[in-house]
Amino acid sequence: MTIKRVRKAIFPVAGFGTRFLPATKSVPKELLPVVDRPLIQYAVDEALAAGIEEMIFVTGRSKHAIEDYFDRAFEVESDLQSKAKYDLLETLSGTRLQPGQAAFVRQQEMAGLGHAVWCARYLIGDEPFAVLLPDELLWNPASPCLKQMCDTYEAKDGNVVAVMEVPEQHTHRYGIVSPGVSEGAVTEVKGLVEKPRAGTAPSRLAVVGRYILQPEVLKILEARETGAGGEIQLTDAMAKLIGKQPFHAQTFDGARHDCGDKAGFIQANIALALERADLAGPIREFIATL
Ligand code: G1P
Repeated sequence: MTIKRVRKAIFPVAGFGTRFLPATKSVPKELLPVVDRPLIQYAVDEALAAGIEEMIFVTGRSKHAIEDYFDRAFEVESDLQSKAKYDLLETLSGTRLQPGQAAFVRQQEMAGLGHAVWCARYLIGDEPFAVLLPDELLWNPASPCLKQMCDTYEAKDGNVVAVMEVPEQHTHRYGIVSPGVSEGAVTEVKGLVEKPRAGTAPSRLAVVGRYILQPEVLKILEARETGAGGEIQLTDAMAKLIGKQPFHAQTFDGARHDCGDKAGFIQANIALALERADLAGPIREFIATL
């Protein structure tokens, strides 16, 4: 049997970003910059590095700026061209997706991550697909997270989620894996629970916002069953695939920055700035003065 290649990715970007108000009153949180690239660019670059061809953004009202970001910016481009500022023009090259490579669907109600993913069902059709939560900046430029997962998918088929160990006291914030047998970085998934109550988590392996899923999960989401927080949870729908399809967790080898959180977002800016030859010196000097 040949394994169907993962060609499409869903980026759920409809959220209000309330944790970053007032900054997110008129700027989508996915466009907040880490150093000089918006968060969404990191997720799209990760998808491109894994061979994804079609990017599906599940947006909402007041998120037009994301659509504009991946388009051409005629005025600024022609201005830079006429002034021969080619190095600045080059910084824009990664923001232009190919014609037809980006699609936008609206999530009309904030009914949960499972609902957001389901909103893309007609564009996904009958193919495996990836989901990337752009809040989670998973950083390993040499071996991006989704690429690590695609390699596992090609070996194991079925469904693959990225996981990392979190402290016991944080397990209630995540989808948590009930683990089976492990082979290196790959662990069999025996169960999944969304935001387990304190003291009830089956492990410390938390799902960190990257998924490779089979299209059958979309049929399960159709039932609109609600779970933790009264929301339609992707984790609950995935749990129903376990035992019917292969399901593995890939422990991500790299740095994770939770940019849905202010401290995580600021840490991401510092960590990535320190990796840049043009910024590391002044940032280190400044930190030393604090
Ligand atoms: C979502 C998922 C959760 C996952 C987390 C990773 O939760 O529902 O399973 O562990 O993302 O960031 P959220 O943070 O949207 O509440």
